[in-house]
Amino acid sequence: MTIAPENRPLLALAAHARGKRSPVTCRLKCGDQCAHDAPNTSGNEYFRDVASRAFSRRGALGAAGALALAVGTADAAAAHPGHGHGRGLRFTPIDPVPASTDALTVPQGWRWTPVIRWGDPLFRHSEEFDPEHQSERSQLGQFGYNCDYLDVIELDGSHGRRAVAVVNHEYTNEGIMFPPTTDPDTLAEQKRIAMAAHGLSVVELRRSGEGRPWEYVRGSHLNRRVHVQTRFTVSGPAAGHRLLRTKDDPVGRTVLGTQNNCSGGTTPWGTVLSGEENFHQYFVAAATPENARYGIPTTVSATGRNWWTVDPRFDARQPGYENEVNRFGWVVEVDPMDPDSTPVKHTALGRFKHESANVRVARDGRVVAYSGDDERFEYVYKFVSEKRMARGSSRAARAHNKTLLASGDLYVARFTGDSPAAEIDGTGTLPSDERFDGRGEWLPLVKNGRSRVPGMDVAEVLVFTRLAADRVGATKMDRPEDVQPNPVTGRVYAALTNNTNRGVGANAPADEANPRVTNREGHVLELTEDRNDPTSTRFSWNLLLVCGTPDGAGTYFGGYEGPVSPISCPDNVAFDSTGALWISTDGQPGTIGYCDALHRVTLEGRDRGKVEQFLAVPREAETCGPVVHDRDGAGTVFVCVQHPGEEGSWADQHSFFPDYAAPGSLSRGRWGGPRPSVVQVHRA
Ligand code: FEO
Ligand code: CA
Ligand code: CA
Repeated sequence: MTIAPENRPLLALAAHARGKRSPVTCRLKCGDQCAHDAPNTSGNEYFRDVASRAFSRRGALGAAGALALAVGTADAAAAHPGHGHGRGLRFTPIDPVPASTDALTVPQGWRWTPVIRWGDPLFRHSEEFDPEHQSERSQLGQFGYNCDYLDVIELDGSHGRRAVAVVNHEYTNEGIMFPPTTDPDTLAEQKRIAMAAHGLSVVELRRSGEGRPWEYVRGSHLNRRVHVQTRFTVSGPAAGHRLLRTKDDPVGRTVLGTQNNCSGGTTPWGTVLSGEENFHQYFVAAATPENARYGIPTTVSATGRNWWTVDPRFDARQPGYENEVNRFGWVVEVDPMDPDSTPVKHTALGRFKHESANVRVARDGRVVAYSGDDERFEYVYKFVSEKRMARGSSRAARAHNKTLLASGDLYVARFTGDSPAAEIDGTGTLPSDERFDGRGEWLPLVKNGRSRVPGMDVAEVLVFTRLAADRVGATKMDRPEDVQPNPVTGRVYAALTNNTNRGVGANAPADEANPRVTNREGHVLELTEDRNDPTSTRFSWNLLLVCGTPDGAGTYFGGYEGPVSPISCPDNVAFDSTGALWISTDGQPGTIGYCDALHRVTLEGRDRGKVEQFLAVPREAETCGPVVHDRDGAGTVFVCVQHPGEEGSWADQHSFFPDYAAPGSLSRGRWGGPRPSVVQVHRA
């Protein structure tokens, strides 16, 4: 039988992986975008060095840092009432774990327990997980696949015994989820199951008391699946615009579904923001400059997913669906406390491959959301709301706060170094001032309701934000993943995960903010807004980490000279109650040869830059969604274990996580394959 190209099983493996991920992860997660030229071919000027404007590094950082600590705490306490200074977790760092190890490794004296796994039933009438007999209907009632963002939000008045977990399901791996088939009907059903495994899950957790492990509550009234058929409303200046209208939604204000939800952020008013990241790979669309700038495939050969074969709206070549592709690539807001609420797509935050969005509250009550566009040579953005946050948790305050992201100003970042260009040689060797650092500017794209981009109106700026940012001269970065403000100090941390094309051929050369050519291991940038005011349009920055092994050439650990854990490909960031930074990784096996990890990084004092590895995930998995609860007994760390055993197949599974046959055994358990899961790590 001949199978049409669009109906071929998803896993005809690419033979290359030019980034640090496995070929399978590249194919499935990002639609092989690293195998193609980066879509940012704009002539947008590269980073300019301005040695003539050199300033005292220590003076600038010292002053900003002192201010941050003085002001940021109160600011942060207002934004995140549950946070403050604590003591932090006590653990002995683990050694890095060889990449072939199918085990979750935690520090001595700690143990791990799954909280919820792919396929676990969420509702009373949900079907039990049965991988041999999956259906779209069963998956819609179960926890989705490849969990990424996570938060665990304790419920008011529950004395630490009830919480709600909100989890993104970024993408699927049909090759290990389903038995191989060439039957078109079976393939179509597998596609529908995979679609149903995308989106988000909201699920209640309970425990018997502090320090006890959490369990999920099947059938809780809070439990919810948000998926690719869930109804969303569209907010902000582009809502209703012609660029968002389709034949199913001629007014451009209602979208079905969300997909490729990567990371996210919990707002101070208790909702969750989720980034629609590699949305391009689910579509085919006409070859327009706008679609090209987002890497939207024009033919079946460019994507393995081909959702349009079971849902025609994903074929944006078809009359009436040309704009469907413009209805993805947004930050979405979900209220986990109201399972009947309609989630929202916020056009005011711009459309790009959002890794996530994280909010900080300014002293005047306006809220600021930071977000990165995760692709090579893309940009870092921030949104500043027009309205001010209402304090308190009344119904009226909550309703008001859920409108904050609908109107405001949108900016993109330009970074300028303070060292001579000649000293940035592309190897990662520090310049003579011993810091990769400098100043920066937030360039307005939309301000006071008006476009600041010549030739584009507000809706065009928001729908085609990448093109708008090209025109104002934003700095091309090495794949911005999480960009998140520290709730204790207010400083902002950006994980720049890697960019093997930096400085290669006609691509942008190394610059002080992205100082290594063929940057395989990534770096972490620390940004301090002027006056520690997140609404400021100017900032200082420095590189906290230039990742890799401690003895590797061109690595930097914040100036710390003691022993550190190796770290590569930083992805998600989180903070504990002391303000220490936690970083999860995605891609270490391909660079430094170790399983992906979760690390704690000290930011303040003599130990600044000290990296300590807390855990390692099983082979072929990435670590996602770290959440650190350190003010409760001995503490709990939650992670999402995403894509364990990704390079296996149905018949040759590479991981049996987390259902190993017995504690301590790494052999095949109840089901002979991996289940992406939320895991809690707690004291033994
Ligand atoms: Fe889905 Fe940028 O990682
Ligand atoms: Ca410098
Ligand atoms: Ca990520």
